[in-house]
Amino acid sequence: MEAKVRTSSKSVALAREASVLVVDDDEHVRRSLRRVLRRASCTFLEAPEAATALEILAREPVNVVVSDYRMPGMDGVEFLRVVKERYPAIQRVLLTGQADTAAIEEAVNRSEIFRFIWKPWDESHLLLTVQDAIDQFWTMEENQRLQAMLTARQAELERLNRDLDAKLEARTEALRLAAQEWRTCFDAIADPLAIIRGGCEVVRANSGFARQAGVAVGELPGLRCTGHAFGQLPCPRPYLGESPERVVTFRNRVWLMRAFPFGGDALVVVYKDVTQEREVTRRLFQAEKMSALGQLAGGVAHEINNPLGGILAFAQIMAQDERSPDDQESLRLISDAAMRAKRIVDSLLRFSRAPKEHERGPVDLPRVVEEALLILQPNLRDGKVTVVRELDPARTTGNANQLQQVAVNLIVNATQAVQGKGRIVVHTGPGAPGRVVISVADDGPGIAAGITERIFEPFFTTKPEGQGTGLGLSICYRIAEEHGGSIRFENLREGGARFVVELPAEQAT
Ligand SMILES: Nc1ncnc2c1ncn2[C@@H]1O[C@H](COP(=O)(O)OP(=O)(O)OP(=O)(O)O)[C@@H](O)[C@H]1O
Ligand SMILES: [Mg+2]
Repeated sequence: MEAKVRTSSKSVALAREASVLVVDDDEHVRRSLRRVLRRASCTFLEAPEAATALEILAREPVNVVVSDYRMPGMDGVEFLRVVKERYPAIQRVLLTGQADTAAIEEAVNRSEIFRFIWKPWDESHLLLTVQDAIDQFWTMEENQRLQAMLTARQAELERLNRDLDAKLEARTEALRLAAQEWRTCFDAIADPLAIIRGGCEVVRANSGFARQAGVAVGELPGLRCTGHAFGQLPCPRPYLGESPERVVTFRNRVWLMRAFPFGGDALVVVYKDVTQEREVTRRLFQAEKMSALGQLAGGVAHEINNPLGGILAFAQIMAQDERSPDDQESLRLISDAAMRAKRIVDSLLRFSRAPKEHERGPVDLPRVVEEALLILQPNLRDGKVTVVRELDPARTTGNANQLQQVAVNLIVNATQAVQGKGRIVVHTGPGAPGRVVISVADDGPGIAAGITERIFEPFFTTKPEGQGTGLGLSICYRIAEEHGGSIRFENLREGGARFVVELPAEQAT
């Protein structure tokens, strides 16, 4: 085994030509060594003393120095120490006599010699020693090369590690920024938005959601719905079975809920409060319907007006002639019926006609109400209807006659609602900023639930035939719109209904 290692080491030494420097003052010794070392097939260099040897070393690459101990000038130990100091890779072998044990000790301590060889030497031992020194040189050189390579690799690894650390840091920062961007976007959306698991547990949600749910943002993760609700928001589970979009009326608000699947049983749910939108659409729809009906009614009224005029005129002409009492009675009934029809037609025409600009001016609403009550005095006279006036100053710009007609219609409706016995409160005064109101409240039965959508429609009436045309409120609606105002109603908690007409306040000049 050992021989095999040597052989392979030797082959390395032979493959790369080694060079051995022998330093000895004895010519005979040098020659003898040259002969022995020829078998090691290395370049043989020689010097008679240390100074020459050092010159050679400065010029030539040398792997092994074999030096005599006793030499003139610098002795072998000192020489090898210098060699070690200048060329630490060179392997050093000391040739020494049996008597020089102290020198060997010193050599070992001071110059870390590789081996020493006793004089006289055994040739094969010498050859082996030198060969070992050469192998040691190559091994150490290889070690150094490997060490250098290792150091370079280590440095490269450290650099790669640093690069990786920097990349990781940059990625982490990018991720943090991205998360922050998403969070900001998430919260910048005013509509409530949440990732909800299992239909009822919040994974994450934005601040819009937190506001409606009535919790702090920090309490959102893991929040579970109670009573099918997250505060003011409906829980999506009962609603989003098949369709990804549902409109839900919940706690007096209308929510459009949209759900997007998000992996597993999680959903992204977006809530949009469409209460106002719905109301606007409903009003627009109503306004369009009213305008169409208004035009229709106007056309019909015109067509009826002429024949009606004819009927009235002829009935009156005929009544001037001698007639039996029965005929006179019939003519009177014809006239009455025609008059009633004419009043309806006049109302219809008023309903469909836009007021002319010159008919507009400053209007004092308390006065309008007083005049309306004066006109209605005969209807209210029997004393069983109490009219309460709460008339605070309120002025608008518009057509006083038309506004009076609004007051009359509302008060007549209220009187009819209380059926001749009850209390009516008529109020004028300031409304929202820049607005004024006229309102009429009664303590009748209120507006029946099934008809709330229809009461402003022309010809919609619940009154018996001959008592109501169903035009009153539609005329009020039209007039309020034309004045840049609106009309609404509410059923009062204590019973009865209140109609409120809101108008722009008169501009101060
Ligand atoms: N104060 C009120 N209380 C309860 N219901 C009302 C009240 N005002 C109006 N209504 C309801 O609204 C319907 C429509 O009213 P509107 O004034 O348009 O027509 P009308 O009173 O029936 O007929 P007209 O006013 O042409 O004589 C009424 O028939 C009634 O059902
Ligand atoms: Mg009416």
